[in-house]
This record gives sequence, structure tokens and C-alpha cells, in this order.
Amino acid sequence: MTNNYALITGASSGIGAELARLFAVDGIPLLLVARRQERLHALQEELSCFVDVKVFPCDLSDTASRHSLLAYIAEERMTFDYLVNNAGCGQFGAIAENDWAATEQMLQLNMLALAQLCRQLLPPMIKRGFGRVLNVASIAAFQPGPGMAAYFASKAFVLSYSEALAFELKGSGVSATCLCPGATQTEFFVRAAMDDSGLVKGKGKSLASARTVAMQGYQAMNSGKVVTVHGLLNRLRVFSLRTAPRSMVTAITAAVLKAK
Ligand SMILES: NC(=O)c1ccc[n+]([C@@H]2O[C@H](COP(=O)([O-])OP(=O)(O)OC[C@H]3O[C@@H](n4cnc5c(N)ncnc54)[C@H](OP(=O)(O)O)[C@@H]3O)[C@@H](O)[C@H]2O)c1
Repeated sequence: MTNNYALITGASSGIGAELARLFAVDGIPLLLVARRQERLHALQEELSCFVDVKVFPCDLSDTASRHSLLAYIAEERMTFDYLVNNAGCGQFGAIAENDWAATEQMLQLNMLALAQLCRQLLPPMIKRGFGRVLNVASIAAFQPGPGMAAYFASKAFVLSYSEALAFELKGSGVSATCLCPGATQTEFFVRAAMDDSGLVKGKGKSLASARTVAMQGYQAMNSGKVVTVHGLLNRLRVFSLRTAPRSMVTAITAAVLKAK
């Protein structure tokens, strides 16, 4: 049991909500962050019988809102043993045709919010000699993704950043773990307007459940593992990418992603 909190971003649905449930059952108090207030409050109500749950509705793609979150943390004098950078979104479409404002928001959320929260929350963890960071990337992190180029590149950032962070933290008592899920049953694809993508079309229930993905990330984080890829098939895919020519990998990814 601890009095220090876990900050979980993107806790209003999908993998983030499942992660929140796992922390709560283990008695770790929570600060849940996402934009949809009603979803956060519903989860707060569900989990309050286990632990103290605070919520802070916040658009993490917005610099000023991120500052408000950090100001709230300082005002409340909250300390964290856990930081879960899970919030993320995707954008489907060609680089030259996509809405730039949406691309910019996605890059802010997937990369800058994650990096800023690491930068701000790590020093007290290092000082106390304990902390765990879980950053959610994707198997997209291992390859270029024509049709979702900026999303794939943002997840490559998360993977590279997390591996470097884990190295920097060696011996500090603080660990960094990068969770790389494959296609998972959440609201992600609907929100990224990817219903017609070959990645998910017709696959429905064969996709991994948010619960099993969250569980794997949670266990890997607690054991201090640096990178964890969810699912045997995904691990084989990632392994095969190491030796395959990059141009071939790019072409295959484009073919898999494109609308059918
Ligand atoms: N589903 C997959 O197939 C898959 C595969 C690989 C990796 N991932 C990654 O897994 C993570 C979780 O996604 P998910 O699959 O669980 O999808 P999801 O159900 O859509 O969850 C995304 C979460 O991020 C939050 N979020 C989105 N934009 C935000 C913003 N601007 N500010 C604050 N919070 C924001 C959402 O809450 P609000 O909308 O309420 O803000 C939601 O809680 C993401 O990083 C995603 O890239 C997903």
C-alpha cells in the first residue's frame, strides 16, 4: 500500500481505463486524466471503494491545459510512484491530404504530453529512489506506416524515448517500460476513422482485449521490463522486421493499412 499516486492519462476508455482498474485493485490511489469528464467520473465512482480516486479533465494536446494539470498537481502537493502515459490518438490518411490541425494535436498528445509529464514527474521519484513509468507505444513503433505516417512516427518516438529513459534511470530505483500493443478492441479505430482499414475491417472480436493488453503492460511495468510487445504473433512480426529490408516492410505495412 502507498500514499503516493498513479497518474494515468487516457483513463476514460480502452487500455487506460483497464489499467486504472488494475492499479485500484492493488490499492494504489489514482489521478485519472482525459477530456471526457463524465467517463472519468463514472470510473471514479466505480473505483472509489478500493482507493482514493481524483480526476482532472484535461486536453493533453493543449500546452495551456497541460500547465493547468501540473499546477493542480503542485497545488494539491501530490506525489507519484507511477506515471502511465497512455493517452493517444491516431490519424488515418495521406500526409498531403490530412487536416494539419488534427495532425498537430495528435503529435502534441502522443509525444509532447508524454515527454513533458516524464520530465516533470521523474525528479521527485528519483529523489525518493522509487518510481515506475509506463509509456504506451504500439507495434507501429517498429516500422514506417504509409497511410498513418505521423501516428507510426509518433509511436517510434515513444519507443525510442522510453528505451533511452530506461537506460538513463538505471540504478536510480525508477524504471521505464514501453508497452507495444497490436490491434486492440477499443474506441481507437472508430475515433481515427479507420473502420475501412484492412488492419481492423471484419476482425472484430479477434482483436486483443483492452484488459489483456493492460494486464501485460501492468505486469511488465512492475517487473521493470523495458519493452513489452503484446501477443505472440505481434512479437514474431516485430522480430521479423529486424532483418527484412526497410522498403519491403514499408510496402507491406501500406498494403495492410489501406482501405479494402
Ligand atoms: N487500440 C489499438 O489497437 C492500439 C494499438 C496500439 C497502441 N494503442 C495505443 O494505446 C493507447 C490507448 O488507446 P486505446 O486503444 O485504449 O484507445 P481509446 O479507447 O480511444 O483511448 C484513448 C484515450 O486517450 C484519451 N485521449 C485522447 N485524446 C486526448 C487528449 N487530447 N487529451 C487527453 N486525453 C486524450 C481518450 O480520452 P478522451 O477522449 O476522453 O480525452 C482515451 O481515454 C494509445 O496511446 C494508442 O495509441 C492502441
